[in-house]
Amino acid sequence: MSAALSLSGVEMVFGGLRAVGGVSFDVPERSIFGLIGPNGAGKTTVFNCVTGVYAPTKGAITFRGQRIDGLPAWKIADLGIARTFQNIRLFGQMSVLENVLVASHRVTRASLLDAIVRTRRYADDEAAMRRKALDLLKFFELDDNADQRASSLPYGDQRRLEIARALMLDPKVLLLDEPAAGLNSAEAKVLEQQIRTLRDRFDLTVVLVEHNMQVVMAACEEIHVMDRGETIAHGAPAAVQKDPKVLEAYLGAGHDNAIAATHTDASATADVLLDVKDLRVNYGGIQALKGISLEVRRGELVALIGANGAGKTTTLKAIARTLAVKSGSVRFAGRDLAGVEAHELVTLGVAMAPEGRAIFPNLTVRENLEMGAYTVDDPKVVATRLDEAVTLFPRLGERMKQLGGTLSGGEQQMLSIARALMSGPALLMLDEPSLGIAPVLVDQIFEAIDRIRRKGTTILLVEQNTRRALAAAQRAYVLVTGEVALSGTAEALANDPRVQGAYLGEGVHLD
Ligand SMILES: Nc1ncnc2c1ncn2[C@@H]1O[C@H](COP(=O)(O)OP(=O)(O)OP(=O)(O)O)[C@@H](O)[C@H]1O
Ligand SMILES: [Mg+2]
Repeated sequence: MSAALSLSGVEMVFGGLRAVGGVSFDVPERSIFGLIGPNGAGKTTVFNCVTGVYAPTKGAITFRGQRIDGLPAWKIADLGIARTFQNIRLFGQMSVLENVLVASHRVTRASLLDAIVRTRRYADDEAAMRRKALDLLKFFELDDNADQRASSLPYGDQRRLEIARALMLDPKVLLLDEPAAGLNSAEAKVLEQQIRTLRDRFDLTVVLVEHNMQVVMAACEEIHVMDRGETIAHGAPAAVQKDPKVLEAYLGAGHDNAIAATHTDASATADVLLDVKDLRVNYGGIQALKGISLEVRRGELVALIGANGAGKTTTLKAIARTLAVKSGSVRFAGRDLAGVEAHELVTLGVAMAPEGRAIFPNLTVRENLEMGAYTVDDPKVVATRLDEAVTLFPRLGERMKQLGGTLSGGEQQMLSIARALMSGPALLMLDEPSLGIAPVLVDQIFEAIDRIRRKGTTILLVEQNTRRALAAAQRAYVLVTGEVALSGTAEALANDPRVQGAYLGEGVHLD
C-alpha cells in the first residue's frame, strides 16, 4: 500500500527543547492512523509541521510522494491536507452554517471578478457551497442548528462542527487533534463510527491524535506512539496496547475499575459555603438552566454530572458571574453575590479553572501563575504556592519561562488548575479537569484534586467521566436538560441504576 503521508527523521526544536526528536512513519493511503502519547509528547507539533505552521528543523515530509515540509500553510491546505485544532477555533459569533462556509473560498471555481459582478457562475457556486455545507452539517446532525451561534453549541457539537469545516476543503488527508475531548462515551462511540464512515465516503486518509483510548483502539488500524518527542512504539492497536513502554509512559493503571472511591470519607461540615437557588439562564430563546438549586458544604467535593449540553458549564459560569443570569440567587459564605463582579470573586475566595483553560498565551508559565495570585499581598505566600503548584505538576516547574500559548494542550490544562489554586480559594470550581489529559495523568489529576480537598479547599467539580467524578465526590447533582434530575451522596448515586447509564454517556433514565 502506498503512503499518503510520510515523515522521515522529522525534528522540531524550540530554543533548547526538542519537541519532536527525529520521528519517522508512513501513513498508508485511506487508513485511519493513530498518533498517541503523553501530554507534551509532540503530537500537535507533528501536526503543525505537516500543515506548515512550522518548518521542521530537520527531516522530510512527503504527501503522495511530493515534499511538503517548509511549504507555506495555504499551499499545503491546497494540496489536500486539512486539520482540526486541539483548542477549538470557531468563530463564536457567526452561525454554525457560516462557520462551515468560511472554509469554502479555497475550493470555489468562481474568480474574484465573478464575485464582484455577481455572475451566474458565482451564484451557482454559492448555492452549491451552501448545499455542500448543509450536507456536511446533516452528516454530523448539526443541520437543525445551522442558524444558531457557534458559541452557543455544547462543546461536543463544536468539535463536530470543526470537522465539518475541515471537510469543506475536500481534503485527501484529514488530521484530527483530539476530536473526542469533552465527549462522553456514547458520543465518542458515535464519533468513532463517523470517522470510519467519513473515510469511506470521502476516500480520506485520517491521522488521529486522541487520548480517548476506546476511540483510538476501535478506529485506528495502525498506531504510532511518542513520548517526549521520541517514538516509543509503533504497530497494530492490540500490540501497542500491551507494550510495556506504552503502559508505563502513557496508559498507566488507568482502568476505570481500578479507581478507588474516596466518598466514604465525610470530612464535610454542615456549614453551607455555596448556596444556589432556582438559577435560571437563557441563551437567546433557549432556556439553558430552568431553575437549578444546589448547595456545597464547607470541605466537600460536590460533582455536577450529566450529558453534554445538560447545563453543567453554564451553571459554573452563572455562579462565577461570567454570564448573565435571568433569575435566582447565589450565596457564597452567607453573602448574596448579586451585584458582585466576576473579577471580585477571587477576592471573596472563589476561583475557577474554566473549560477551554483561558490561560494568558503571551505570559510565561510563571507570570500566569502569579496572575492567579494577584489578590495575595504577601510574596512569601506567593512563593509557597508556586512551590505547591510545581509539586502538583512537575512539568510546569520545568517550563516556568515558556509562554503559556505554546504549552501543549495537557500542559495548559495543568496550568489552568494550578493558576486557580494560586489565590488560595475557599471554593475551587473545576470544569472538566481531565479534558485533554493523557490516561496516566488523569489518575494523577484526580489524586491531586483529592489532596487539594483534604487540605481544606471546597470543590465543585464538573466532569464528563461520571465514574471518576462519583469516585472523587462526597455528593453529586445530576443535570438533565437544565434541571437537577437527581441528587444525593456520591455512593448512592454510583449504585443508582438510573445513573449507571450515565457511565456510558447514555444519560439518566428517570422512568
Ligand atoms: N512554540 C513552542 N515553543 C516552545 N515549546 C513548545 C512550542 N510548541 C510546543 N512546545 C513544547 O513542545 C512539547 C510538545 O508539545 P505538543 O503540543 O506537540 O504536545 P502534544 O503531544 O500535542 O501534547 P498534548 O497531549 O498535551 O496536547 C510540549 O512540551 C510543549 O510545551
Ligand atoms: Mg496536543
